[in-house]
Amino acid sequence: MTHSGTISPSQHTAPYADALLATTGADWQRLNVPGHGADATRASGLAALLGEAPLRLDVPPLVDGIDLGPDSPLDRARTLAAEAWGARRSWFLTNGASQGNRIAVLAARSLGDTLVVQRSVHSSVVDGLVLSGLRAAFVHPSVDPGLGIAHGVTAAGLAEALAAHPDAAAAYVVTPSYFGAVADVEALAATAHRAGVPLIVDEAWGSHFGFHPALPAGALAHGADLVVSSTHKLGGSLTQSAMLHLGEGPFADRLEPQLERIFHLTQSTSASALLLASLDLARRALATGGPAIGESVEAADRIRAGVRAAGRFAVVSDGFGAFPDIVAADPLRVPIDTRRGGISGHHARSLLLTEHRIMVEVATDSAIVAVLGAGSAPDPSRFLAALHALPGPPLVPAEPLAGPAGADTFGGPAAPGIRLPAPGPVRLTARDAFLAPSVTVAAQRSVGRVSADTLAAYPPGIPNVLPGEVITRELVEFLQYTAATPGGHVRGAADPGVTTLRVVAEDPGRHH
Ligand SMILES: Cc1ncc(COP(=O)(O)O)c(C=O)c1O
Repeated sequence: MTHSGTISPSQHTAPYADALLATTGADWQRLNVPGHGADATRASGLAALLGEAPLRLDVPPLVDGIDLGPDSPLDRARTLAAEAWGARRSWFLTNGASQGNRIAVLAARSLGDTLVVQRSVHSSVVDGLVLSGLRAAFVHPSVDPGLGIAHGVTAAGLAEALAAHPDAAAAYVVTPSYFGAVADVEALAATAHRAGVPLIVDEAWGSHFGFHPALPAGALAHGADLVVSSTHKLGGSLTQSAMLHLGEGPFADRLEPQLERIFHLTQSTSASALLLASLDLARRALATGGPAIGESVEAADRIRAGVRAAGRFAVVSDGFGAFPDIVAADPLRVPIDTRRGGISGHHARSLLLTEHRIMVEVATDSAIVAVLGAGSAPDPSRFLAALHALPGPPLVPAEPLAGPAGADTFGGPAAPGIRLPAPGPVRLTARDAFLAPSVTVAAQRSVGRVSADTLAAYPPGIPNVLPGEVITRELVEFLQYTAATPGGHVRGAADPGVTTLRVVAEDPGRHH
């Protein structure tokens, strides 16, 4: 099923992957790059690792009959992807959704100089700020302080931020969240459009949305203008492959030429044929693989049912209804509150890996998140048995999952005795601060200085300070507290204990 609800016959084809495969039948003499020459005898190390087929498929760009000329198989593959996701146009990316976020932020620069952006965006969006020079105005997501996780933003929150920034270039949100919480994209798009700006959605975790009736609809179907999609996450393509989808919205004409230019600015001139082919095949599998996706949803349902029935742990998404920013949950994500079962998320994840050979996607202090790729069907009973074999009698008496009373934003409690710090004042754009000469100073001497780095405490991973923001005492205490907490860490820190921070060397803000 595609986003239009029907499957056109051409969705059953994979023109780029097929063209690539067709080349491998011939006896080529390869006097071009890649230098391994698809010679499994000479490139024996690679062949031992991968087998011979990937070497033969590793064909360089600009080959007639594959990606060269009008209506090439690559063009057709991209057109089919656009049709499947309901986009005006789709780009195939070989540097992940991170590349998509950088492209999207750079493209927004042509529409203004302030980006109204969800604070809990991925670091690649902050990289986009650095590259583009855009100023950032933040919309804060709701935070579940009990579980240490960030969710999404409400249309009301976005409207408030847009009203405060009438010159905004675009609105930028993330949905679904790392925990599978889905925001109300329709309301967010309507809010952005009322304010005269496009809605850009980082849908990295939702590339499979819209391809089965049990899944939420994708962001484009709800009116988003530009969507970043990490196809390799749950969509089934190879790691590092992703897509960028431009919707048919009111901003498409203005954005399209910019996106094409910036795509070339960021894409390698030697994009991997293997990655591109995997995108073509993932699109075909999603568009035509309804029953297989249904089996994945069933497997995830069985895991959730098993967790509920055993009663030791809890399914985090069962409490999503209490958060005003969450309108749905991705059924292919299974976030589990392990703390209730007497074991931290970090410990549970580590034991599942070492003792049961089970990998889960992410852990926080209090939860783990298992994800099932669309079309995959892992055995629920193996996971449930391992989960319930984890050591630890319930140490924490069962409490209701955090609801609105427990939900919090910045400035609220992060954990007993410590508060999530409010961001310090902005002195420089992220770009100016990141590119300026910088020095590393002892943490206590960094207070009052302008940060050159993005630092984010895990959990929940929201950037606590961005390049250009003033470092506060509260921030340093919070980061050091997080770093000292078992399982906690600070992404971007100059050292694991956050005893030093990188600050802008010449700090114009201090002289004002
Ligand atoms: C919300 C979000 N956006 C973007 C990315 C970057 O995706 P990729 O790893 O495909 O570059 C991630 C990575 O986890 C993410 O969580």
